[in-house]
Amino acid sequence: MTELTNVTEAKAIKVPTLPDAQTVTSVTHWTDRLFSFRVTRPASLRFRSGEFVMIGLMGEPHPETGKVKPLLRAYSIASPSWDEELEFYSIKVQDGPLTSRLQHIQPGDEIILRPKPVGTLVHDALLPGKRLWFFATGTGFAPFASLLREPQTYEDYDEIVITHTCREAGELTYGRDLIESLKQDELLNELIGEGFWKKIKYYPTTTREESAKMGRITDLMRSGEAFADLGVAPLSPETDRAMICGNLAFNLELKEMLEGYGLVEGANSNPQHYVVEKAFLD
Ligand code: A2P
Repeated sequence: MTELTNVTEAKAIKVPTLPDAQTVTSVTHWTDRLFSFRVTRPASLRFRSGEFVMIGLMGEPHPETGKVKPLLRAYSIASPSWDEELEFYSIKVQDGPLTSRLQHIQPGDEIILRPKPVGTLVHDALLPGKRLWFFATGTGFAPFASLLREPQTYEDYDEIVITHTCREAGELTYGRDLIESLKQDELLNELIGEGFWKKIKYYPTTTREESAKMGRITDLMRSGEAFADLGVAPLSPETDRAMICGNLAFNLELKEMLEGYGLVEGANSNPQHYVVEKAFLD
């Protein structure tokens, strides 16, 4: 009897929810360093494909005051703006304050999501062009996972080139599977037009493990090999637009190269030829 009373009392206590809580709906582990997950989408959240939001978990209690504060990081939304859920693609840093814990989330768990999307990797920041380049390293693929599922990408451009440089072959799987899935995506084929995915030229490369194409995309462009493989001319401000998302050194190097081709950096308030955003790491 006593036990029964306790159970009833426990149920009556309101479970405290996190501020801006969203519920995890699925988690996929791609490698021991990479995972993706999907969460519920706040009804009020509107965003443009390619933008990011702050997400995270409650931090550990302060050792003296016992106070807890949210531990948040910027994450590109990997799902397109029309999707009813939100997807994220993340690195796992074993001693990283957030991802050491975030990597253990399970469906049904809650995360914090601040519904204030921002970012520069948006169509609005580019002038009209013929060919759109997405340059990614590692988890920098995330905003392009969103933009590759965004109808406007195919409406605005004749050709989309996506380059993805990773250390190891397994790190390409999330992107490769996503691009492959576009072929079977009935909704997108109907919405954008049957065979829309034929506009995509996918160019994955690895630097530390054997794969079909090895080397940094920057080196492969400098030597001309990437353009020869892809069957396209080097970038020009007349025809080409580009978005860059990778580690800091990559972003800086590629930015300099694009400037060398004559492309000018754009922003929401001043659309030009290319835009850059760094992949946020823990
Ligand atoms: P590398 O293995 O030669 O350093 P990371 O996991 O360190 O963020 O790197 C992801 C990928 O980006 C790796 O394949 C790495 O190549 C590549 N990379 C790092 N810096 C640059 C750069 N400045 N230009 C081109 N690729 C780079």
